[in-house]
Amino acid sequence: MSLLQIKDLSVTFDSEDGPVHAVNNLSLSIDQGQTLGIVGESGSGKSQTAFSIMGLLAPNGRTSGSVTFDGQEILGAKPKTLNKLRAERIAMIFQDPMTSLNPYMRISDQMAEVLTLHKGMSKTDALAECTRMLDAVKIPAAKERIRLYPHEFSGGMRQRVMIAMSLLCRPDLLIADEPTTALDVTVQAQIMDLLNDLQREFGMATILITHDLGVVAGFCERVLVMYGGRVMEEGPTDPLFAQPTHPYTRGLLAAVPRVDDEDAIMKAIPGNPPNMADPPKGCPFHPRCDFAGEDCLVMPPLEPFAANRARACRRPIEKVAP
Ligand SMILES: Nc1ncnc2c1ncn2[C@@H]1O[C@H](COP(=O)(O)OP(=O)(O)OP(=O)(O)O)[C@@H](O)[C@H]1O
Ligand SMILES: [Mg+2]
Repeated sequence: MSLLQIKDLSVTFDSEDGPVHAVNNLSLSIDQGQTLGIVGESGSGKSQTAFSIMGLLAPNGRTSGSVTFDGQEILGAKPKTLNKLRAERIAMIFQDPMTSLNPYMRISDQMAEVLTLHKGMSKTDALAECTRMLDAVKIPAAKERIRLYPHEFSGGMRQRVMIAMSLLCRPDLLIADEPTTALDVTVQAQIMDLLNDLQREFGMATILITHDLGVVAGFCERVLVMYGGRVMEEGPTDPLFAQPTHPYTRGLLAAVPRVDDEDAIMKAIPGNPPNMADPPKGCPFHPRCDFAGEDCLVMPPLEPFAANRARACRRPIEKVAP
């Protein structure tokens, strides 16, 4: 049985411009210890998918479909159930750690609270465990620095604190939503290395949400490419990168800077992601797609086409130039 299974998830927001279909009929599953990347440009529905799992959608959002965690339906579950799940089994880290840390509390107090409240630990034991976790995320002089306030840490160090905090309860599933986007490039790489090490050490299933395919390559076994609230292509990372068959996946890959070839020309996908209050008819990518035709005005189904791979495209690229 999958640890997390999402079937036909749709997320709709009520807005002044009418309904916004942020996520449409999304299905995915992730097993214990697996790593899954969700990639796509801004507005593609990545965060709202994560928020639905966590029960953290904005009040104007509605969901349909099913999300099961360890066999239990959690979409629309009671706040009490979701709170318990979030405290004990599913953790999330966000782009900006400042939004999740309390600026008025010492790191020691906010970290220890997680363990005293949810694990019934004594304050002394909790502090010892928190210090160990800060060591694990490689915060130097953790024993002293645990007494500081969030603003006394740099952005990268704050993200390390958040990661430490998210792991305190030893979650089975970690959702990291753009965990490095707010950081500069060198620090980004350090945080990704750290997440990689911790994922191996703790063995939690991890969903990494990012618009950066480069980040996914070094971290995830599987990738799901989203656009306009829909899954465009999915599959194991290596074959998907070696042979992207959806024009959108290929476009995203062409826009990734190549470390091995500085002269390679990067080509951003022309145009902008759709306005989700008024999306294009059919495949949401067709207005930007070089291969689109009349038949793309009807949304193609997501269909398997090779081992563990699927795509939603009527005009796939079967052969990719070397
Ligand atoms: N409360 C809301 N009301 C109306 N529309 C919303 C609301 N929250 C999100 N949306 C819309 O839902 C769509 C998907 O948003 P989502 O946050 O999932 O994007 P994303 O893929 O995470 O993008 P980014 O990379 O910018 O974080 C967007 O079009 C967004 O404008
Ligand atoms: Mg987002």
